[in-house]
Amino acid sequence: MVNLSIQLAPKHPRGLLLANPVMTASGTFGYGTEYGHLFDIQKLGAIVCKGTTLEPRDGNPQPRLAETAGGLLNSIGLENIGVNALIKEKAPIWASWHVPVIVNIAGETVGDYTRLAGQLDGVAGISGLEVNISCPNIKAGGAEFGANPDSAAEVTTAVRKATSLPVLVKLTPNTSDIARVALAVAEAGADAISLINTLKGMAIDIAKRSPLLGNITGGLSGPAIKPVALYMVYEVAGAVDIPVIGCGGITTASDALEFIMGGASAIQVGTASFSNPRAPLDVLEGIEQFMKKEGIKDISELVGVARI
Ligand SMILES: Cc1cc2nc3c(=O)[nH]c(=O)nc-3n(C[C@H](O)[C@H](O)[C@H](O)COP(=O)(O)O)c2cc1C
Repeated sequence: MVNLSIQLAPKHPRGLLLANPVMTASGTFGYGTEYGHLFDIQKLGAIVCKGTTLEPRDGNPQPRLAETAGGLLNSIGLENIGVNALIKEKAPIWASWHVPVIVNIAGETVGDYTRLAGQLDGVAGISGLEVNISCPNIKAGGAEFGANPDSAAEVTTAVRKATSLPVLVKLTPNTSDIARVALAVAEAGADAISLINTLKGMAIDIAKRSPLLGNITGGLSGPAIKPVALYMVYEVAGAVDIPVIGCGGITTASDALEFIMGGASAIQVGTASFSNPRAPLDVLEGIEQFMKKEGIKDISELVGVARI
């Protein structure tokens, strides 16, 4: 037997214990409910649901997806059912699951995040929040909240005060010094940090001589971003003393093990689920096999072992 369990929120009074380090990435696994017929999703460490806003959103104009070499460009624009429907329709289902569900929240003002956190506090079926700070801060002229340490810390402090749930803060790679942002977020009371969200990108339709995505720009994900994500996880894990959750291009168990050895306590599988919906389970089984083969009894023995 190997021990795969990890504590994601060691500084939180209740903690957030995961049976294993494999999570789904927000926006790539719906509300979890859509995948239950494909495999036993309750074997996973945690499910992170689609980014949720105060009001329902239709998202950006089509086209919203474009394949690139080794990656995917998306400009979904946070299409979601809104927090009220999530509480009414999804949370009661999650409450009957033993896999923890973490709700990813998104807003355009600090007040949006605070209201979301307040509404979700104490709702049965919700085990934690993941704060997406890749959203444009409309009060600061549209720059992402996560682009600078001050606005990232401001959101984190506000959410921390508004909820008793464990708070994960998800960083954007679209910043010049991700370790500084991570440190600011950790000091502001985050229980864990997840990274990375998508890298800003675009594609042009040469026949139409215009941008391919309806929104002009989008976010790049998939294997193409793995080395960037891994580097950033390595940087951040060296800067903070709270758990780091690695995400970005993880498709196989060996990808996941790279992130764990680089310092991630847990990992998220995102774009890989689009081509192989069982990818999170395959990754989990592969990690377990690796541990058995290498005689590793506890996943914690692997966290950060490759750090110099
Ligand atoms: C179609 C799509 C929708 C996404 N929606 C969200 C979202 O709502 N909230 C969020 O924080 N991240 C969102 N992401 C980012 C992913 O959760 C993840 O951070 C990113 O895709 C990198 O991981 P990957 O390369 O494994 O996909 C989305 C990504 C994709 C591809």
